[in-house]
Amino acid sequence: MWAKRKRGWEIPEREATPESVFHDRRALLKAMGMGALVAATGAGPLAATPAFADADPSAGLYPAKANPKYVLDRPVTAEKLSTSYNNFYEYTSEKNVFEYSDALQTRPWSIAIDGMVEKPMTLGVDDLLKKVTLEERLYRHRCVETWSMAVPWTGFPMKALLDIARPLSSAKYVRMTTFMDPKMAPGQRMFFYPWPYIEGVTMFEANNDLAFLVTGMYGKPLPKPDGPPLRLVLPWKYGFKSIKSIVQFTFTDKQPTSFWTALQANEYGFWANVNPAVPHPRWSQATERELGENTRRPTLIWNGYGEYVAAMYDGIKGEELFR
Ligand code: MTE
Repeated sequence: MWAKRKRGWEIPEREATPESVFHDRRALLKAMGMGALVAATGAGPLAATPAFADADPSAGLYPAKANPKYVLDRPVTAEKLSTSYNNFYEYTSEKNVFEYSDALQTRPWSIAIDGMVEKPMTLGVDDLLKKVTLEERLYRHRCVETWSMAVPWTGFPMKALLDIARPLSSAKYVRMTTFMDPKMAPGQRMFFYPWPYIEGVTMFEANNDLAFLVTGMYGKPLPKPDGPPLRLVLPWKYGFKSIKSIVQFTFTDKQPTSFWTALQANEYGFWANVNPAVPHPRWSQATERELGENTRRPTLIWNGYGEYVAAMYDGIKGEELFR
């Protein structure tokens, strides 16, 4: 495990990646036959535009009504950029996820709600969509790797899922899990990662107005690289908390150990709230590069969402809130 510390200065983006704890990923992927998979699907490194294969039965729900409460301080990121520069380690640890992610089959798609709930249940994503009202929200997204974007997401407040789940008062956290299927996601054959991808939030975070379960972007269902058919978006936290392609919500009284925490706990913690003053152990978090922009801009505490979220953390202190 590579844990060289480089505090207080910007590093090239390719180095500022969670996966950079490992050497020579490309060679490894090749050795695992993922190069062959790319060749077989006809998508090569030179493929320029994302291609999304199957039609989505929920397509008629879009575009959803925009919620005017959430405004941006910067232009919306071009759709082509935010759907072709992604993190989705189930497909690749590089950014060209779109070259691999057509293999993701999003129907049928079952979602389990279990653990400390009145009644555990499993429901198809389209049945879930009948129980909620979709809306569009403009949010900033800040990756721990120091790139950022601004996206019109479509989805529903996480609170609405809690109303369906009916958690017991003993539940303190929601643990979320991504699908596990190495046939559909060749990245899951990378044995050194602690699959499946898991993330968690406290019940008070899940109840926050900003916590958004996302099914679409740019007025359409989510494209494959962005984690369909259901992902989380927590705009005040580093992007790795925004788990993609969720299949399970488990209500629990134990703090969940996430994918990245299991891998490198001193770098990726449970809270991961954005704070420019608390550097990542290997790079500064003071500034960010918006996709499509050449100059860096200052990063905002709580990614600019303090008025919505800061009060939640009043009783909790320390740097671990920001890691
Ligand atoms: N969810 C899963 N299942 N797998 C992943 O690799 N990457 C995370 C997060 N959710 C990831 C995930 C990271 S590090 C980021 S920054 C965001 O997804 C990126 O979302 P985007 O690709 O839609 O921009």
